[in-house]
Amino acid sequence: MEGVNINIKKGETHVLFGPNGVGKSSLLMAIMGFPKYKIVDGKIIFKGENITNLSIYERARRGIGIALQKPPAIKGVTLKKIIEILNGKSKLKVEEYIDQMKMRDFLNRDLNYKFSGGEVKRAELLQLLIQKPSLSLIDEPESGVDVDNIKIVGEAIRKALEKDKHIWERKSSGLIITHTGAILDYIKADYGHIMIDNKVKCTANPRDIFDYILKNGFKECGKCPKSMLD
Ligand SMILES: Nc1ncnc2c1ncn2[C@@H]1O[C@H](COP(=O)(O)OP(=O)(O)OP(=O)(O)O)[C@@H](O)[C@H]1O
Ligand SMILES: [Mg+2]
Repeated sequence: MEGVNINIKKGETHVLFGPNGVGKSSLLMAIMGFPKYKIVDGKIIFKGENITNLSIYERARRGIGIALQKPPAIKGVTLKKIIEILNGKSKLKVEEYIDQMKMRDFLNRDLNYKFSGGEVKRAELLQLLIQKPSLSLIDEPESGVDVDNIKIVGEAIRKALEKDKHIWERKSSGLIITHTGAILDYIKADYGHIMIDNKVKCTANPRDIFDYILKNGFKECGKCPKSMLD
């Protein structure tokens, strides 16, 4: 992909829309630094530092975290073990987060192994809450999640992005991918972007963009009123 230019300021939440297969998940994984994603041009600047050539480990240490669309199942590693690794020595809040995400019965199971679709999403967000990244990359948090669990997922994202604090008190920012827009009912997002033809084509109010997509479909993007696109 090319022509991707997104500037997320401290405390802001951005939403990324786009058709299947356009490269949204690939973009998030490239920002996180998964080794299979090669950046051939351009830069990723995080907190003023060029992190384009840093490893995934170094990016995570600097405060970038990801909740994957389709995280792998890891046999032999329990959810409990992952939580211990993410949390280090501090026990603070972890027990509360486990209950909040309704994951207590899953602690001794292998991570994501035979988890249902909704359970995988809750496990991803639990790990994000514990990790407390300053930039959360969240890929389709509500896909496959039932109406009751969507509230749990939505509130976890509110917490991860410190939405209850005023923007200038927040340390956390987010970039969220959604197809359903359901997450917009739980968090007030600041900007929306559409990725189409491998480019980020417009930036505007996320609700306005989502309403436009619902009404016109992605194929009309780029032809929409300039007032919304510029
Ligand atoms: N390892 C791979 N080998 C070949 N093609 C790949 C590989 N990984 C991703 N792709 C392709 O890259 C394109 C972008 O994939 P990506 O998962 O980023 O799309 P997406 O915008 O997140 O789509 P969706 O909305 O369906 O999740 C897709 O066409 C996908 O098939
Ligand atoms: Mg995807």
